Amino acid sequence: MGTLLFIALVLLTYEGGVDKEEYIENERLFAEWDAQKLVLDNPMLPDLVRDGYYIVSESANYIGPNAKEPEQQYAGNTLSCTNCHLNGGTLSGSASWIGILDRFPQFRGRENRIGTIEDRINGCMERSMNGIPLPVPSYPMKAIVAYMDWISSEIPQVNSKIISGYPDIILPEVAVDLDLGKQIYTRECLLCHGSDGAGIRFQEKEKGYQYPPLWGEDSYNTGAGMHRVLTAAAFIKNNMPYLQASWENPKLSDLEAFHVAGYINSFSRPQKQNTDADFPDKKLKPISTPYGPWTDDFSPEQHKYGPFPPIVAFYEKTFKLKKTK
Ligand code: HEC
Ligand code: HEC
Repeated sequence: MGTLLFIALVLLTYEGGVDKEEYIENERLFAEWDAQKLVLDNPMLPDLVRDGYYIVSESANYIGPNAKEPEQQYAGNTLSCTNCHLNGGTLSGSASWIGILDRFPQFRGRENRIGTIEDRINGCMERSMNGIPLPVPSYPMKAIVAYMDWISSEIPQVNSKIISGYPDIILPEVAVDLDLGKQIYTRECLLCHGSDGAGIRFQEKEKGYQYPPLWGEDSYNTGAGMHRVLTAAAFIKNNMPYLQASWENPKLSDLEAFHVAGYINSFSRPQKQNTDADFPDKKLKPISTPYGPWTDDFSPEQHKYGPFPPIVAFYEKTFKLKKTK
């Protein structure tokens, strides 16, 4: 009898939408990162590392528009690093920072030289965060790097399957269809990110966003990786809708992620200055970089929305380069 009552209660309280097994599976995946336990309540943690965590997860308060001193306001928008690098930068499939220091210094096409981890962080500062670089010797920069170092040694035990970056999507044959993108957005994204893409702020304004903006003045700028449709599609497929998708268990198809990525990037956002200087060797520019100049004659429209296979074929034929994004 007790068991029956229990089952009835579970059935009554269980709300449809996601199927139950999937829900439990997702709970398992996302339960692995517990910032409270691993970071905030961890007495073994050096202060520098804990501060690094605050800086990446409440960026606006420490290095952005809500920082106390104007000279600490390096970031130009109210995003946090961890809005895109989920679970404190530890989640596989969302450009996880686990093991990241081992991969730097590395060659970067955007600057056409070997870059350090600090350069890479500042790439996101100037583009994703629409701001200015953090000085390399500054406290916030040191804290962020110390935090990345710490998760690389401590977190692999709770997040064993490490993949870097985002798993690529299969390159669509077609161009983005903005009407389809809008339909997918309305169905899968609007609830959290809003009909105007402006997201939803916490009631206490200084806490920033509960659901971050996807376009408009407070979003990433035109020079950001997320502004390239193929990069955004890969992020979205492997991470969105939030808590329903993971790289092991995505919800949208490659094509759906592609159309909706084009849709969110079809609206206005802050303009990155001096983008002509990016990729001094223009043939190394990712094909979906939406701003010129390019070493090809495809239109700006085609670089932004595709179809991409003809561009891929051109680089293969002309420069023997295999491009995936
Ligand atoms: C259930 C709410 C929810 C839904 C539905 C949802 N998102 Fe998100 N999204 C979030 C949250 C929360 C974050 C930030 C994650 C964090 O900080 O841990 C985020 C982050 C993002 C980001 C990176 C941060 C930014 O502001 O640029 C993008 C891009 C994004 N979502 C796109 C989408 C798209 C496209 C869809 C629909 C396919 C979608 N999201 C559906 C909640 C949601
Ligand atoms: C709007 C989304 C967004 C925000 C906000 C953001 N990033 Fe990124 N970040 C990206 C994207 C996109 C990439 C490239 C991922 C790829 O293509 O694999 C990236 C890459 C990186 C990388 C290199 C990862 C690798 O595997 O090589 C580092 C390090 C990084 N970001 C740090 C930061 C830090 C620190 C902040 C905050 C100061 C930040 N990011 C804010 C989107 C974002």
